[in-house]
Amino acid sequence: MTRRPFIAGNWKMNKTVAEALALAREVRNAVSQVRERVEVAIAPPFTALHPVAKVLEDSNVALAAQNCHASESGAFTGEVSAPMLKELGVTWVILGHSERRQFFGETDAGVNRKVAAVLKAGLKPIVCVGETLEEREAGKTLTVVETQLKGALQGFSAAEGAGFVVAYEPVWAIGTGKTATSRQAQEVHAHLRALLAGVWNQETAAQVRIQYGGSVKADNAAELLGQADIDGALVGGASLKANDFAAIVKAAP
Ligand code: PGA
Repeated sequence: MTRRPFIAGNWKMNKTVAEALALAREVRNAVSQVRERVEVAIAPPFTALHPVAKVLEDSNVALAAQNCHASESGAFTGEVSAPMLKELGVTWVILGHSERRQFFGETDAGVNRKVAAVLKAGLKPIVCVGETLEEREAGKTLTVVETQLKGALQGFSAAEGAGFVVAYEPVWAIGTGKTATSRQAQEVHAHLRALLAGVWNQETAAQVRIQYGGSVKADNAAELLGQADIDGALVGGASLKANDFAAIVKAAP
């Protein structure tokens, strides 16, 4: 089974609308050559989704959101629902990012409800899992990601699951300049794929793309993306510069 590499840029809380438009145009132009080979998405902040959607029309760059609420509408001041994102032309929604877990109290059960909302709206989830440094040092990495993965994916059919993307992002590697070695990352990715086979079946597990995230840069991307179970990258800091992001996209095998 060959899985199409998928590189997504998570802009986090960066870029005004004017800045986002400029960066989106640069990214669109810089990655236009990889059309068939690599799937590409960018996740600007909510405020820039609508204008950026226009820039990405007829391009090979998809639009992603960084979060959504689990309900379709209602009295949830300050929140944004999945149908609202769909209306803007969003395709992917990043869910359960470690910053959401760490700073906004997101739980596996909450991520699970958001995955359901995303599917119901006709969108696709990128489900993030990853251990802290303390958990890694205590030898708990594989059990932590297992709990997160199973909690987030509970209740979905294999047919639904085949379209999911999972992102393994060790918390200690995010924004720190410390990347997991390709061996460390591959070990966890292989474990996640085995877990997916348990949740669904081998065939579905072989279809699900598992991205690595955490200080992915142009100079470490090829090595990471060359691993058997690493099917792409979720890129934070390096996605804020079009050339750096495009170099990562082009490093995909
Ligand atoms: P980073 O962030 O590439 O800046 O480490 C990755 C992420 O948080 O998705």
